[in-house]
Amino acid sequence: MDLFRRKSVTALQAEAEADHSLKRSLGVVNLTALGIGAIIGTGIFVLTGTVAAQNAGPAVILSFVLAGVASIFAALCYSEFASLVPMAGSAYTYGYATLGELVAWIIGWDLILEYALSATTVAIGWSGYVVSFLADIGIRVPAHFQAARGTVVTLADGTTTTAIFNIPAVIIVAIVTTLLVVGVRESANVNNVIVLIKLAVVLLFIALTVKAVNPQNWHPFIPPNTGSREHFGFSGVAAGAGVVFFAYIGFDAVSTAAQEAKNPQRDMPIGIIGSLIVCTILYIVVAAIATGVLPYAQLDVPDPIAKVADAAGLGWVSSLIKLGAIAGLTSVILVQLLGQSRVFYSMGRDGLLPPFVNKVHPRFRTPWITSILTGIAVAIPAGILPVRDAAKLVSIGTLLAFVIVSIGVLVLRVREPELRRPFRTPLVWFVSPMGAISALYLMSSLDIETWIRLVVWLAIGLTIYFLYGRHHARVAG
Ligand code: ALA
Repeated sequence: MDLFRRKSVTALQAEAEADHSLKRSLGVVNLTALGIGAIIGTGIFVLTGTVAAQNAGPAVILSFVLAGVASIFAALCYSEFASLVPMAGSAYTYGYATLGELVAWIIGWDLILEYALSATTVAIGWSGYVVSFLADIGIRVPAHFQAARGTVVTLADGTTTTAIFNIPAVIIVAIVTTLLVVGVRESANVNNVIVLIKLAVVLLFIALTVKAVNPQNWHPFIPPNTGSREHFGFSGVAAGAGVVFFAYIGFDAVSTAAQEAKNPQRDMPIGIIGSLIVCTILYIVVAAIATGVLPYAQLDVPDPIAKVADAAGLGWVSSLIKLGAIAGLTSVILVQLLGQSRVFYSMGRDGLLPPFVNKVHPRFRTPWITSILTGIAVAIPAGILPVRDAAKLVSIGTLLAFVIVSIGVLVLRVREPELRRPFRTPLVWFVSPMGAISALYLMSSLDIETWIRLVVWLAIGLTIYFLYGRHHARVAG
């Protein structure tokens, strides 16, 4: 039945080989930096504190370990696919090769939640940090234009007013979109610089605050459950893992740069797994320090890491941390927008989206129309929405992609064992089911509203598929 028609791996490999429209200019350093660029962002700078205070206490460290382990299973599966089928469509293309067109469409549509919606969410967070950093250095962004419509903003004199439009959020999306249109090499170079800044800030934070840790603050390590599932105890740690999972999102975006990598078979797995391991270690150390310096109950603030630096007697570091967060969030937006336009590009090539989507700019060799349309689609909601629950929707969407990719790897091993796999997921009979189970487990820890939003989103996607994609798909055999 044509809903389950597949693209053969050999055909995809030939297609990747023959498609020279995107420029192959990224090496292993750029790819790992893209991963770190996409991963370190709001998660570590904000969620560490929230989850410690509300869900897990010092055991937020365990929440990070749990979410990290789930991510590593998925990263191993993504790596096998990314080296086998090095295509810009990432999970969408892997779905096409293994589970058929309908599943591929579902993942492609679902990835909009991971890439475009997270870019929107992060652009809003970026705006908050920039407004606060500018205020530190005496520059005031007009209150009406520093947040989404309806958001109450406190003025310097203590009075409040209501904002109309979030201009900084729109500006950052416009700048990043322009960069992406100009070139992937240029974008990767800017990303490298930003990643260096944010890594330096995180390392500096660790080096300077470690002395202020008071091990007493780690007791009790898992505060007793208060009676509600999400509040402390082991169930709180698990619920916390569902929330801090957001901090790990992004390593898979590396795989969307496969057609722009010089040697994807070798470098994709290094970029994906390498960036994830670096970030996992940093997250665990930062979480341990934050909960060691301050009692966890005091971490429930929008800028917990800056507060920890203050508590360690490093007042001046707190502005630096804001700068690190701004840098961090900028690269998250950059890599997520890159990922989104590449997934659309692949869907356009396959005929599931209209043909203009995969037009490549003759000089810049980037999918420029898609990049600009994606930028506009991300900027408008970033300007007008006070997205609070969006982060959870981003997480559930990403986890769904992880489930399908983890299952897909095993399906393909069984169905086409003879394919030459430059990277093989180790212990695939364990890692692949565990990847799917751990992602499903984290999904189950998210609330019912988030599930309903996911189902509604997928229903809209399926309607579009049956009205358009199904009749225009190029694969047919
Ligand atoms: N992992 C990214 C962040 O924490 C999405 O901002």
